[in-house]
Amino acid sequence: MPKVGIVGSGFIGGVHYGSHSKLSDSQVIAICDTDIEKAKKTVRGEASGGNLAVEKSKPIGFDPAKIEYYSDYDKMLKNKDIEIIDVCLPTYMHKEAVIKAAKAGKHVICEKPMALDAKDCKEMIKAVKKAGVKFMVAHVIRFWPEYVALKELIDGKSLGKLLALNLQRHSPTPTWTWKNWILEAKNSGAAALDLHVHDTDYVLYLCGMPKAVSSVGVKGCATKGVDHLSTQFFYKNGPKVTAEGGWAYAPKYSFRMAFWALFEKGAAEFSSLNYPMTVTPYGKEPFKPKLLTSDGYTNEIAYFLKCVKDGKYPSIVTPKDARDSVELVLAEVKSVEKGKPVVL
Ligand SMILES: NC(=O)c1ccc[n+]([C@@H]2O[C@H](COP(=O)([O-])OP(=O)(O)OC[C@H]3O[C@@H](n4cnc5c(N)ncnc54)[C@H](O)[C@@H]3O)[C@@H](O)[C@H]2O)c1
Repeated sequence: MPKVGIVGSGFIGGVHYGSHSKLSDSQVIAICDTDIEKAKKTVRGEASGGNLAVEKSKPIGFDPAKIEYYSDYDKMLKNKDIEIIDVCLPTYMHKEAVIKAAKAGKHVICEKPMALDAKDCKEMIKAVKKAGVKFMVAHVIRFWPEYVALKELIDGKSLGKLLALNLQRHSPTPTWTWKNWILEAKNSGAAALDLHVHDTDYVLYLCGMPKAVSSVGVKGCATKGVDHLSTQFFYKNGPKVTAEGGWAYAPKYSFRMAFWALFEKGAAEFSSLNYPMTVTPYGKEPFKPKLLTSDGYTNEIAYFLKCVKDGKYPSIVTPKDARDSVELVLAEVKSVEKGKPVVL
């Protein structure tokens, strides 16, 4: 059973811990956070969440009493029993954390976005390749039940070709992070790279790299970066794809993500707030498709652990996919700033 060390025990570190806890073949043996008390709170189920609930289940594959706590990441990396490092640190720390883990011979799953720019992504890819370790960026939407079902609907072609797709993601301003790191655009890439990247990455997953993007957006509401944007992704002979999202909403605004997909022979729609995924074919009754019963975070972690166990490199999210999603979001940001389309 793969032995895991989590680094970063804030909001998403708590969510990942909850997912590892649900898996019979995951064994968290170490957690590192500069604030060890925070890590202990996560394990006791007392951590509070961000814009999603933090899971509070009792681990089934490991004994939480045996977890070793570290405040120094370098020391945790010296623990020879750890095979996998799960990086849940602030985005601006991803590059160094992933490279160090790879050099220590650990397989790595790292939160999205991979890094702040394509150059950093390239260095990370070089390091994991050189070390020969498995590496996956946790692009959770590729594993999220409704989005998995939409991809299956597209690939299965039961509704014909996808003609148009609109993706939405809206969040209250994130005020829960350690030292408010997320509200410094230079550390997080603002809503464009932190939040909207989920949809950009999903567009890449479904349709590949577009020929160009045209974005409009709003800067300087919550950070000095792009806090809200709306993008048109251009494909030659492909579907008409748009995505909009941001985090400039008031604290009491409810987080939501949604999609609308128009096909030749019907449509599919979903909103996390108030509309379970529904498929409406021409000439037939609308229906709710069968969805995966486990959540996206647990699915992505289970998948990565299986890849490590089977000695396979992850193919659902490759390092190149994760780098491309950073590159594509940065093209969207450029389009907002220049006020014109950006050709890729
Ligand atoms: N996939 C998702 O849905 C999702 C959701 C939220 C965040 N994220 C991503 O997860 C990452 C972390 O975000 P978060 O919201 O959990 O942030 P956070 O601020 O809540 O957590 C970061 C944690 O890192 C710890 N830390 C800081 N420096 C450290 C160091 N040198 N060594 C060890 N620990 C250190 C902090 O004490 C804190 O507990 C970001 O990249 C973010 O984009 C992903």
